[in-house]
Amino acid sequence: MCKLTITAGLCLIIGSLASSTRLVCYYDSEAENRPEDGKFTVSDIHPKQCTHVIYAFSDISNRHKLVPNCATAIQRYQSFNGLKIRNPQLKTLLAVGGLNFNTQKFSKMVSTQRKRAKFIHSAIRLLRANGFDGLNLDWRYPGGPGSQPQDKQRFTLLCKELNEAFVAEGTATDRDRLIVTASVSAVKAIIDASYEVAKISMHLEFINVWTMDFQGPWESVTGHHSPLYNGSQDTGDKIYSNIDYAMRYWRDQGAPTQKLLMGFAAYGRAFNLSTASSGVGAPANGPGEERCFTGEEGFWAYYETCPYFEKVTIQLISDQKVPYATIENQWIGFDNRYSLDIKVSYLKTNNFGGAFVWSLDLDDFGGQFCKQGNYPFISHLHDILVPGFPGITASTPTTKTTKNLKKKCTNQSSNYHHQNCHNDLNNNSHCHHSKNSYYQNHNTSKNEISNYHHHKARYHQCSHNQNFSDYITHSHNHNFFNYNHNLPNHK
Ligand SMILES: *[C@@H]1O[C@H](CO)[C@@H](O)[C@H](O)[C@H]1NC(C)=O
Ligand SMILES: *[C@@H]1O[C@H](CO)[C@@H](O)[C@H](O)[C@H]1NC(C)=O
Ligand SMILES: *[C@@H]1O[C@H](CO)[C@@H](O)[C@H](O)[C@H]1NC(C)=O
Ligand SMILES: *[C@@H]1O[C@H](CO)[C@@H](O)[C@H](O)[C@H]1NC(C)=O
Ligand SMILES: *[C@@H]1O[C@H](CO)[C@@H](O)[C@H](O)[C@H]1NC(C)=O
Ligand SMILES: *[C@@H]1O[C@H](CO)[C@@H](O)[C@H](O)[C@H]1NC(C)=O
Repeated sequence: MCKLTITAGLCLIIGSLASSTRLVCYYDSEAENRPEDGKFTVSDIHPKQCTHVIYAFSDISNRHKLVPNCATAIQRYQSFNGLKIRNPQLKTLLAVGGLNFNTQKFSKMVSTQRKRAKFIHSAIRLLRANGFDGLNLDWRYPGGPGSQPQDKQRFTLLCKELNEAFVAEGTATDRDRLIVTASVSAVKAIIDASYEVAKISMHLEFINVWTMDFQGPWESVTGHHSPLYNGSQDTGDKIYSNIDYAMRYWRDQGAPTQKLLMGFAAYGRAFNLSTASSGVGAPANGPGEERCFTGEEGFWAYYETCPYFEKVTIQLISDQKVPYATIENQWIGFDNRYSLDIKVSYLKTNNFGGAFVWSLDLDDFGGQFCKQGNYPFISHLHDILVPGFPGITASTPTTKTTKNLKKKCTNQSSNYHHQNCHNDLNNNSHCHHSKNSYYQNHNTSKNEISNYHHHKARYHQCSHNQNFSDYITHSHNHNFFNYNHNLPNHK
């Protein structure tokens, strides 16, 4: 009897834990522009793996309204929210902002109560018209480059007013209320400069702490971009550059642990080694090579990294609990099952609210690269984090419906041979040439080039602003801004 009660009690506890833990997955709509098997569309999303999916990104108009980032986005919003037909428990959010977003749009929008109200009103309309369950604010960062110092307080007002309006609208229309969420920095200096942590936490349903990109090839030595703990070599501010510190810092500033989600990168960061030294902290002179499908120097999708797993020795950074490998003169930090297990176990021990992943399209969604089945990275997270979601008969793999699109893509880049490039670095040159011709055939390249100039200009412009200089000098993300603004194709 007693035994039974204990078991039932345990089941209840386990049941309630499972239902409140979140696995939030970003969908990067730009992944549709990747060639061949890298091309990822809404129909590639598995509707039963993540508890929430976030559509990245939408835009803010000159009139301070939330708007789709392109004319065809509305169609994709419809299919995105159509995923809920196959899993009614799935929640969908629309993200606004991102790393390459012109943050002045946020700054202008929050500047007066009237402008914020316009944004909020338009957000309710856009979300409801397309069947979203809420909004994800991805402003990097309030009070940072391209914005005013007082945006820290105005961001709090935005969260508060959004939440109040969403509650009121839900009550008035007798529907489930829309939710407000945000993705925020994990860098101590930026947290201090940008957020009234305790206040925003009251208004947000959950908070994605961007615990990726702590380090990367914008620095002169190798280091893992998403380490769990500080490393033995860390000195100065570097001791804050890890998941453990960032999550505890958000908690200790007043965010409830259950609202804090830990970020998982379904990508590696690659460095070009400049000497024969190849450990952690080895000299590096820039980003590693670009890969065929993502085409961005130093940024390797999980599916572009996993083909090496069996061919090279995987090293473990023992104090930081994350792996890396060196392949010729490339140093690459990434996550694998081992580090996912440790990170998730850490997350559970500390009672954090779950995980979020950037992004669905970087996992081996079709299963043809890693030989670990479809979505090895995210299904593993699902299995260890939200195994019961959405029900006992959870994982039926999706049937792929993108073959035609992929063929069309192949034709546009007829000299593109991915067979030659994803297993062998020496042969990556084939990919290189063909990828360039792929982009030459696309108008996206022009956008990317103008984006590049835009961001570069913004960086220089901002660096003349004393407040911005202060902001970045006190943040070791300085080089990160610089680096990213010099990348044409970054998220
Ligand atoms: C760095 O890591 C060590 C060992 O895990 C830990 O004792 C220490 O508190 C950490 N320092 C900070 C600032 O988190
Ligand atoms: C990578 O490093 C090597 C050795 O220093 C150097 O010769 C090469 O030019 C570098 N490659 C890039 C793309 O920077
Ligand atoms: C693709 O290219 C082949 C030959 O280059 C051509 O026969 C075929 O019609 C093309 N398909 C499409 C969808 O353009
Ligand atoms: C590299 O590519 C060439 C030409 O496509 C091919 O002949 C060669 O076998 C490839 N090398 C390796 C090691 O895969
Ligand atoms: C690029 O866009 C222009 C006008 O927007 C169009 O005329 C042209 O055909 C496009 N080129 C390609 C390769 O899609
Ligand atoms: C810098 O910030 C202060 C308030 O913190 C403000 O008064 C001043 O105008 C700002 N300067 C610039 C150049 O933006």
